[in-house]
Amino acid sequence: MNYKLIVNNIHKEFDTKSGSIIAISDISFDVKAGEIVAIVGPSGCGKSTLLNIIAGLDNPNSGNYYFDTENPKIAYMLQTDALLPWKSVLDNSLIGLKIRKEINEEKISKVKNLLKEYGLKDFIDKKASVLSGGMKQRVALIRSLAIEPDILLLDEPFCALDYCTRLSIEKDVHKIIKDSNTTSIIITHDIEEALNMSDRIIVLTNRPSVIKKIYDLPFDDNINRRSLPNYETIYNSIWEDLNE
Ligand SMILES: Nc1ncnc2c1ncn2[C@@H]1O[C@H](COP(=O)(O)OP(=O)(O)OP(=O)(O)O)[C@@H](O)[C@H]1O
Ligand SMILES: [Mg+2]
Repeated sequence: MNYKLIVNNIHKEFDTKSGSIIAISDISFDVKAGEIVAIVGPSGCGKSTLLNIIAGLDNPNSGNYYFDTENPKIAYMLQTDALLPWKSVLDNSLIGLKIRKEINEEKISKVKNLLKEYGLKDFIDKKASVLSGGMKQRVALIRSLAIEPDILLLDEPFCALDYCTRLSIEKDVHKIIKDSNTTSIIITHDIEEALNMSDRIIVLTNRPSVIKKIYDLPFDDNINRRSLPNYETIYNSIWEDLNE
């Protein structure tokens, strides 16, 4: 099997005034190349902590993780889009490439095509401030993918959006990520979001957080998952996992 990331026995605790808090404990899993893995868990269970460790922004107390390449390019997308409102949509989409000094005509044209394909054709030269919330998140995603990352990490990327926008953007984002074949980890506390967007769902327990269950989703990518008979069964099972 072609693995992109292997995580072994990660343990992380924080020292606080009132003693140490174990956030995550003994977390092990792997992510295959091209796979989208969702991580769901109760609020405060350590999801962001885990993602920060994988991104190299924080260190575990014990355990380790390996990528299939020595210096992986990591894209990290957060809740708030952090676009520069005074710059154009195109300039915002190219920021990652500019910072890495990887910009060239071919990449600019690829980014333009992505913007056109995903409903931003008429906004390429408009300022980012005129976009709706869902459009901003699409631009943020295209910006993340422009650098052709080895892995894309998404920490609750849609939780600032309203329900309707979320439903439509989940579909778009899933398609954009799958079309680009980018290995991704998406954190969410929304079971439906996990079911709609991933190939596999890892469910975490309350703190100190361990892996409760892993679901391999039996869904085809190109159909409306909500209408499938298994959808509700898996939804209910995850709901029970989270509420035990
Ligand atoms: N730098 C820190 N110092 C002390 N405690 C921390 C630190 N970072 C996180 N924690 C604690 O670790 C636990 C896990 O936090 P984390 O942000 O990873 O949870 P989460 O699952 O992402 O939560 P949410 O669903 O609210 O985003 C929490 O109890 C949090 O208070
Ligand atoms: Mg978090």
